[in-house]
Amino acid sequence: MTTKIFRVSDISEGAAEISQAAEIIKRGGTVAIPTETVYGLGANGLDEQAVKRIFTAKGRPQDNPLILHVADESWIKRYCEDVPQEAYLLTRHFWPGPLTIILKRRSIVPSVTTAGLPTVGMRCPKHPITNALIKAADVPIAAPSANISGRPSTTSFAHVLQDMDGKIDAIIDGGDCVVGLESTIIDLTEKPPRLLRPGGVTLEELRRVLDEIEVDEALLRSMPDGEKPKAPGMKYRHYAPRAQVTVVCGYPERAAQYIRERVSDRTGVLCFDEYAFMFDKGNTRTFGRSTDLKAQAERLFDALRSFDDSDVTEIYAQCPSDEGLGLAIANRLKKAAGFRIVDLGRD
Ligand code: TXA
Ligand code: MG
Repeated sequence: MTTKIFRVSDISEGAAEISQAAEIIKRGGTVAIPTETVYGLGANGLDEQAVKRIFTAKGRPQDNPLILHVADESWIKRYCEDVPQEAYLLTRHFWPGPLTIILKRRSIVPSVTTAGLPTVGMRCPKHPITNALIKAADVPIAAPSANISGRPSTTSFAHVLQDMDGKIDAIIDGGDCVVGLESTIIDLTEKPPRLLRPGGVTLEELRRVLDEIEVDEALLRSMPDGEKPKAPGMKYRHYAPRAQVTVVCGYPERAAQYIRERVSDRTGVLCFDEYAFMFDKGNTRTFGRSTDLKAQAERLFDALRSFDDSDVTEIYAQCPSDEGLGLAIANRLKKAAGFRIVDLGRD
């Protein structure tokens, strides 16, 4: 299949492209869409056949549900029931933005979209093009991250082209994703609400709005065989470059020293900017200063992907602490490593 490319540099002049892309969605096609977190691989979330095309293009396991992307909070009641007050408290603070809320689904949402679950993830992305597209299509857009299943998520048009060219109907080039990590997922069908995936909205920010939030265990450790995590996607190896990753936690100086003692000429190093001088340039990638979590989030997936263009056979990565956005960055790194972690401590 030939993948059509839409370049919408200026939203006010992009009306024609947006309506063409909306037509593809309405016809049951697949369109990669820019969001503030990562690119999504979108299709009409109410159309079973369209949703199946998403699973096929990604090579995604059928038991992993999709998030529905909507234009604003007024769409929630179209697709969800028994919506608790907390939902609107959260949408008022964080929508549009990188927060997905899990609610009880209405039967209008097909079971393939939610992989048979009685719940559905709802998110209102903050990207003018995608917002306009959802409104123009007037259907909720189901979209997982627009990467081949298992690979790091896509945060630029070039990444999407790498993974999806020839497999989907269209890609909208909306520039680089500003957050760079996926949305935070909170399950509001549980009491107290449960954090299933850390992301662009931090746990600290959520706790300023909701009194009590539980943190799902699956987020902190690897899942033993046979155990079922609440967010089915949490059980898969994810975000992973080809080479085996080892995550080194603890004081950055200590971690850098530990890595330096172990590198060979086939070792990739992912480190904070200020430690790059300790390593051979060729196989080293930086992702921001140790204190700059925003930069780390934005650059992480691009750095992980770029190792696949080199011939490294193992990768060591420095890891931030769990504060603020650090929780989400560390979570993606640990998953990319299949929870192969060395913790050197911070005291
Ligand atoms: O930022 C994002 O959330 C991006 C952009 C494209 O919006 N989307 C994204 O989708 O990250 P995906 O499919 O790559 O990750 C969605 C995660 C998966 O781990 C899935 O298992 C979980 O959300 N999930 C989806 N629906 C769920 C539900 N009803 N209950 C529990 N977990 C759910
Ligand atoms: Mg994903």
